[in-house]
Amino acid sequence: MSMCVVGSINADLTVNVERHPTPGETLLGTGGGITAGGKGANQAVAAAKLGTDVVLVGATGSDANAAPATALLREAGVDLTHVEEVADVTGLAVITVAANGENTVLVVPGANARVDAECVGRHAGAVAPADLVLLQGEIPADGFARAVELTRGRVVVNLAPVVDVPREALLKADPLMANEHEAGLILQQLGLDGTGTPEDLTRRLLEAGFSSVVLTLGSAGALVAAEGELTHIDSPKVEAVDTVGAGDSFAGAFCHRLLEGDSMVDAARFACRVGAFSVTRPGAQPSYPGEADALPEA
Ligand code: RIB
Repeated sequence: MSMCVVGSINADLTVNVERHPTPGETLLGTGGGITAGGKGANQAVAAAKLGTDVVLVGATGSDANAAPATALLREAGVDLTHVEEVADVTGLAVITVAANGENTVLVVPGANARVDAECVGRHAGAVAPADLVLLQGEIPADGFARAVELTRGRVVVNLAPVVDVPREALLKADPLMANEHEAGLILQQLGLDGTGTPEDLTRRLLEAGFSSVVLTLGSAGALVAAEGELTHIDSPKVEAVDTVGAGDSFAGAFCHRLLEGDSMVDAARFACRVGAFSVTRPGAQPSYPGEADALPEA
């Protein structure tokens, strides 16, 4: 079973600070290193490290950040033959991580902005045969829509960040995966009320036309709405040091297990454990477990 991720590749520039600066304030931090990130690349690496065959459709720039941005994709064995090198900068994320583990992320799309309908169309040969295509919100909306159009297998969408994508393409998601904040924004985008409890949001997304929904709740686990059932899944309790990319590890691990034949509830249970593992280590991709790593228990 194979998976295709159509999405972003970033170089993550991370600075660790005691607390986040307020506007106009200068603070001293540590770190300043570049590690591999980007929601598409993160999700591809998370699934590949667990043993899934993954092909990535995306783009890097022709600058020095392209190498660190793709280093762990290569190491994890992700097929990069459908990643274009374009005359632009590689996507860049400027991340601050505070001592309490909270982060802020600013993204310069760079080459990711070139992953439009035309670009995705050039890689139809990677998208169409995949059993599962996983999409996020860090590429242009027409690239997203083209990928959905080309998909013959299952479409899984983690619309992070929430961007305005065509409604009919978005509703093909099975499941739609979002955190509470994103779920509220997606509902608003669909012209519906984006407030309420996680259960309210999930039910409203189903009413809007999604066949299944996975709502991630951070350390509180996840809610899975599939096959007429709403199931809450607990996350293992761990000491978080850095939550950057934890949602991406969940998405990659979830799809890995779906392709192994798990139900959505079982896949989400496993993905919560992978997400919990990832927050105990710094960085996005560098924090993801491999097949041999022991995962925390809920
Ligand atoms: O979800 C985390 C990711 O968001 C980071 O790796 C960063 O690159 C941004 O895309």
